[in-house]
Amino acid sequence: MKTAIVTGANRGLGLEVVRQLATEQGMRVLLTSRSEAGAGAAGAMQVERTEVIFHQLDVADPESIQSFADYVRTDIGTVDVLINNAGIHYDTFQDTLTADFQIVEEAWQVNTVGPWRLVQATLPPVAQGWGRAGGQRLQCQRLLRRELARHAGLRGDQSRSQYAHAEAIRRSG
Ligand SMILES: NC(=O)c1ccc[n+]([C@@H]2O[C@H](COP(=O)([O-])OP(=O)(O)OC[C@H]3O[C@@H](n4cnc5c(N)ncnc54)[C@H](OP(=O)(O)O)[C@@H]3O)[C@@H](O)[C@H]2O)c1
Repeated sequence: MKTAIVTGANRGLGLEVVRQLATEQGMRVLLTSRSEAGAGAAGAMQVERTEVIFHQLDVADPESIQSFADYVRTDIGTVDVLINNAGIHYDTFQDTLTADFQIVEEAWQVNTVGPWRLVQATLPPVAQGWGRAGGQRLQCQRLLRRELARHAGLRGDQSRSQYAHAEAIRRSG
């Protein structure tokens, strides 16, 4: 059985993604959320032949990410899909020159650094899953880098360091 991780899955699109992966794709799904609300959501999702497992995960908290990654390595093993769904502050109302930095910094932690940390922390189990599917570990790492870069609005080889992210922002000013 293939395994997927979905972040911020106690409600909204994340919860629906869990439902579809579990019931339509027949995957074992790790439904994660920053609060215990996810436990109830996972319980309600348990129907015949589905496997939805709740685990706490706050993507803005490095300790929570590490503890989740340890759990995945120890209790789950191989992972096939990681869906970085958790997100906050759809701040399209903001302007670069007047942006509220409390919103920018909160969003940066949850929407960019969180997924970045989570990819790094879960890379071994995810790479194993992709290797099992016939891909190569290096190809997997390349794709993950590209996906992270896209997430942060960067191109190809700009994705490797915070310096590269900062440079991209400075150049766009
Ligand atoms: N809805 C849209 O039209 C749309 C369009 C484009 C992209 N998106 C993106 O799709 C994703 C889901 O959208 P949505 O409409 O379902 O959003 P939503 O209803 O606001 O749900 C966001 C989810 O993220 C969780 N979350 C927030 N901060 C977190 C953290 N630090 N750690 C873990 N989970 C956290 C929330 O948990 P709590 O319940 O604890 O707050 C909630 O479960 C977001 O990334 C959003 O930017 C949505």
